Amino acid sequence: MATSDSNPGSPRLRRSLLFVPGDDRHKMEKSLRAGSDSLIFDLEDAVVPAHKVKAREMVRDALLSLDFKGAEKLVRINPLETGLTLDDLTVTMAGHPNGYVVPKVRSEDDVRFIDRALANFEALVGREQGSVRLVLLATETPEGILNIRRVAQASLRSAALMWASEDLSNALGSRRSRKSDGSLPDVFQFARSACLLAAAAAGMDPLDMPYFDFHDDAGLEREAQEAADLGFTGKAAIHPAQIPTINRVFVPSEDEVAEANALLAAATEAFARGQAAFVYKGAMVDAPHINRARKIVARAAAGRAAS
Ligand code: COA
Ligand code: MG
Repeated sequence: MATSDSNPGSPRLRRSLLFVPGDDRHKMEKSLRAGSDSLIFDLEDAVVPAHKVKAREMVRDALLSLDFKGAEKLVRINPLETGLTLDDLTVTMAGHPNGYVVPKVRSEDDVRFIDRALANFEALVGREQGSVRLVLLATETPEGILNIRRVAQASLRSAALMWASEDLSNALGSRRSRKSDGSLPDVFQFARSACLLAAAAAGMDPLDMPYFDFHDDAGLEREAQEAADLGFTGKAAIHPAQIPTINRVFVPSEDEVAEANALLAAATEAFARGQAAFVYKGAMVDAPHINRARKIVARAAAGRAAS
């Protein structure tokens, strides 16, 4: 990966983010070979209460001892209402992660609390202020969804918003978070759209939730493609076998890149004629289409640099 968080002009590519239980050394080692852009060593739902304390130390040790080869090092901490969060940060900051995944965010106050705590830890361990990034799970509570715009804008550390349905489903008392055809019921569709809109408005990466049936490649590809078509820039994963599909889907295909380059060439000619809106392949094209083509070309270049 040629990109770095300390260079805002060269944002990190987050196509794939692999969750790994923080109390499982074998999986943490194994995750490094998966080809995931980001790794999320989990202290929350993948760790039973009896392992919470030892998992912190295992994650810190893994962060210090393993070779991540440029993959982003993220730790998912426990949510604030558990009382475990500050100790999660205290122990794992010693492992120098790139950032934290914050679950069950309810409001901008939750984000500000973590932001302030991290500023203190950064001072303590001698890291640049603001360099530890945040990936926020802001659709896991009803409050989080209703506050999502302010949540997204609460801290300059926030790099991405991820949406997820399962904890929301619990909070709502919903009997199921999928219809029988696999599609999302309205309220979950709303949560997903809110994530996409809030992330786009705040200039953050919108990230799609994991696909849990890790034996169903076709289902994963369908869901990832649909998310990419909407504007999501990456998707979480729970199994290494899901990473190649996700990495492929969230980089524009060769056909898309060729089409984008052709449109940009036509735009250059049109601008030279003094036309900002012009006819291309029988339809009108102007600034949004041109910007979209530029983004496709830039994402393809970032994808090539990462692989
Ligand atoms: N990260 C790293 N390695 C993983 C992995 C993961 N998320 N999931 C599976 N593997 C490894 C296994 O350890 C196994 O390694 P081995 O062949 O050297 O023994 C290999 O990949 C094949 O795994 P498989 O047998 O297919 O699955 P499993 O039964 O071992 O594990 C899960 C299935 C669901 C328990 C596992 O994928 C997992 O823990 N996923 C992440 C869960 C999580 O973090 N959830 C919270 C976020 S939603
Ligand atoms: Mg959860």
